[in-house]
Amino acid sequence: MQAVGVIGAGQMGAGIAQVSAAAGYRVILSDVSQERAEAGKAGIAKQLARAVEKEKIDAATRDATLGRIETVGDVAAMGDCALVIEAATEREEIKRAIFKNVGAVMGADAILASNTSSIPITRLAQSSPDPARFIGVHFFNPVPVMGLIEVIRGLATSDTTVARIEDYAERLGKAVVRANDAPGFIVNRVLMPMINEAVFALGEGVATIRDIDLACQLGLNHPMGPLTLADFIGLDTCLEITRVLYEGTGDPKFRPAPLLVKYVEAGWYGRKTGRGFYDYSGATPEPTR
Ligand code: 3HC
Repeated sequence: MQAVGVIGAGQMGAGIAQVSAAAGYRVILSDVSQERAEAGKAGIAKQLARAVEKEKIDAATRDATLGRIETVGDVAAMGDCALVIEAATEREEIKRAIFKNVGAVMGADAILASNTSSIPITRLAQSSPDPARFIGVHFFNPVPVMGLIEVIRGLATSDTTVARIEDYAERLGKAVVRANDAPGFIVNRVLMPMINEAVFALGEGVATIRDIDLACQLGLNHPMGPLTLADFIGLDTCLEITRVLYEGTGDPKFRPAPLLVKYVEAGWYGRKTGRGFYDYSGATPEPTR
């Protein structure tokens, strides 16, 4: 089967590499160094080992999946990839530099896709070799568990590019929703105001962290309360996307909650820093308010 290049071996990139390899694609996984790419693959190996323990897959499937993932320290090896997915840091200048580098080696038919959660696709396409073959492909965390891919077409994205991405998503067993290139697309347009509102409610003393989360978990049947989910996504990411919604629409209803800004200023980003709305230093997360 054709090769898929994945740029960025963090949580999202590793997840995308895992599900692509599990679907039978040969995967080239890159990061800023070979070591970082290897670390991403080691995380995938752990996930697959757990799946073997749970008897979801057998050892041969685990080995075959891992065997399809090659790690590299730069994008030069992606020349034969039919599809390259960028899942690097959510900073526009970093993404633009990546597109330039990979664009120089990509084949004339290859598709370049970005897993950006909030940067406009039409704007990013300007740094790609061919905006007709550039598209947004938004996965959700944890990638192996979440059944959705948002497909976002820029103004210049061709119908063929959309069709090929939808074929890829189908092979992965993910459902596709099509979104226009508007701030936050669909999921984050709806999710971030909910998280932001939960932080407003906390800041205004409406209820405690525990009660806000439990209310949404049991009252709305959500798998996680909004503050737990915010910690899971990263408060820095939540703030960044909320700012994109605010600035992209000019609508004051999207203004970031002051307490969310404060937490990010304090370096309390959630799970990844050990503290957000919860403290993750003990055996179980403890609400901090
Ligand atoms: N990677 C792979 N698999 C994972 C995982 C991970 N990081 N975390 C959990 N899982 C798997 C477990 O192995 C388990 O699999 P099994 O059912 O086959 O045994 C299954 O998920 C359920 O896990 P647990 O029993 O440990 O825990 P939960 O039942 O609490 O589920 C959860 C964990 C799946 C993360 C669930 O809480 C959930 O769905 N939360 C909401 C996640 C969500 O909303 N994600 C979207 C975020 S928004 C986003 O990504 C967009 C971005 O732009 C911000």
